[in-house]
Amino acid sequence: MEFKNDVELDLTNEEVKHNLSQAFKRVSLEMGQKIPFVINGKKIYKDETKDSVNPADKKEVVGKLSLATQSDIDQAIKSCQQAFADWKFVSVSKRNEIAENLVKLIQQNRYELIAWIVTESGKNISEADGEISELVDFIHSYMIGADELKSGLDYLIPSSVEDREARYLPLGVGVAIAPWNFPASILGGMVMGPVLAGNAMLMKPSNDTGVVGYKLFELMESAGFPDGLINFVTGENEEIGDYVVSHPQIRFINFTGSMSVGLHINQLAAVTQLGQKWIKRVVTEMGGKNAIIVDSDADLDKAATGIVQSAFLMQGQKCSAGSRLIVLNSVYDKLIDKIKAKMKKLSNKPAYENGDIGPVIAQRAFDKIKSYIDYGKNDSQNNTLLEGGNYDESTGWFIEPTLFEVTEKSKIFHEEIFGPVLGALKVDTYEKALSLANDTIYGLTGAVYSNNESHIQEAIDKFYVGNLYFNRKTTGAVVYQHPFGGFNMSGTDCKTGTTNYVQQFLELQSVTRSY
Ligand code: NAD
Ligand code: ALA
Repeated sequence: MEFKNDVELDLTNEEVKHNLSQAFKRVSLEMGQKIPFVINGKKIYKDETKDSVNPADKKEVVGKLSLATQSDIDQAIKSCQQAFADWKFVSVSKRNEIAENLVKLIQQNRYELIAWIVTESGKNISEADGEISELVDFIHSYMIGADELKSGLDYLIPSSVEDREARYLPLGVGVAIAPWNFPASILGGMVMGPVLAGNAMLMKPSNDTGVVGYKLFELMESAGFPDGLINFVTGENEEIGDYVVSHPQIRFINFTGSMSVGLHINQLAAVTQLGQKWIKRVVTEMGGKNAIIVDSDADLDKAATGIVQSAFLMQGQKCSAGSRLIVLNSVYDKLIDKIKAKMKKLSNKPAYENGDIGPVIAQRAFDKIKSYIDYGKNDSQNNTLLEGGNYDESTGWFIEPTLFEVTEKSKIFHEEIFGPVLGALKVDTYEKALSLANDTIYGLTGAVYSNNESHIQEAIDKFYVGNLYFNRKTTGAVVYQHPFGGFNMSGTDCKTGTTNYVQQFLELQSVTRSY
């Protein structure tokens, strides 16, 4: 299969604009409905529900998510086991045919999906449309991955006395536990990678974006994946989170989210439960505290543009966001002036009008980000407010893009804030810049703006991150162009959108037949 990246919508085109405004109207009519969870093709509506709200207008309920109990999880796992018994023997070409149906349905429903993503997550239309392209690319890349792996290892030594084969087998029943910030592409990719490798999945979205998750799940059902192969479950973390992770019949956990939850899951999954027959495999993609270095000979206009995009688009709520800026002394003042000028130009039109800056996702995010801004304002020894610093939660959870000058001791320089807050630090030498960039427990993305070949080479040798960029932003990895995944406490480096990703959900069996 030949791979081509999906093409994003032209948002200046009049027909596209019309289609989008119609989709937003249709979505507004469907808002506030009860959303079921789905086990073995059966929709289950519960009296106990949790509201998912529009972060730009918190009074607006996007959907009411039905809350599963532990016994619902037992049923969902049982149903996955039954579906897995057949699915593992379905050919890769048949599986891929269904996946291609899904891609067609995603394209047919693209405008609605964008409208749901914008309304439920608060990201703007461009970001939501980019997410749909990423989702399509993930599915295609996992189809290719499954196809490449179907013939097993190809380097066994031939023999005249025996047949030798090493073939990949799916693992069994897994659970995809997804974050809110890419509610379609990350959730969809985390389910489709394992499913196309032959596994059955529980699909658990974040409660902040469960409606988008459900809309995507409905398309998976319509595409022709058998009942029970993918069961859609929503519930409170306290009730079903630990329960599903430690369930003895769960073979693997595919997690993307914060470091604290990821490490908790990793620890819990390591405990063997009664009746458990395997060591659980845990794939984790976690947070980041990503540095951008600006060298003394860098193109400062280009750097300022990339820095503002990395730090503030999607309100800084990307794991890949650039949140630490390390600048050589000689260009610091000039660069900061350019960044401030660009920050002033960011528009705060509503997300549905594709403004640059929207709300952060929820009260807990607002409170956390606000606490860092307050800390920055109060600890004047280590922080100086350069731009922004305001917040407003009267209608939605809005935080102004904020720039601090910081010292090495500032919390803003070290901790993942996951919001529109950037800490800038000046340094005397490039060596110091590199050593500070690596001074973190994370290792997801990093960028260097430089035209000095030996400095670029030094960063290639020393800057330890899963995605290293030169003279461009830290965000916006594209499938088959920038395989994505982090080192250290950023995760198990699963590199989404690759054949390696699919391989994580398979095990290798050696089969030898002697004559
Ligand atoms: P989160 O860790 O709060 O939640 C992630 C998922 O875990 C959600 O579905 C949540 O319901 C679930 N969860 C929470 N507690 C659980 C428990 N005890 N057992 C089982 N599941 C549980 O993260 P979030 O706020 O949704 O997303 C933001 C975080 O995700 C940031 O730290 C960001 O950097 C990270 N992220 C990483 C990547 C990556 O590729 N590395 C991509 C996107 C987001
Ligand atoms: N993969 C996303 C990016 O690169 C998170 O920004």
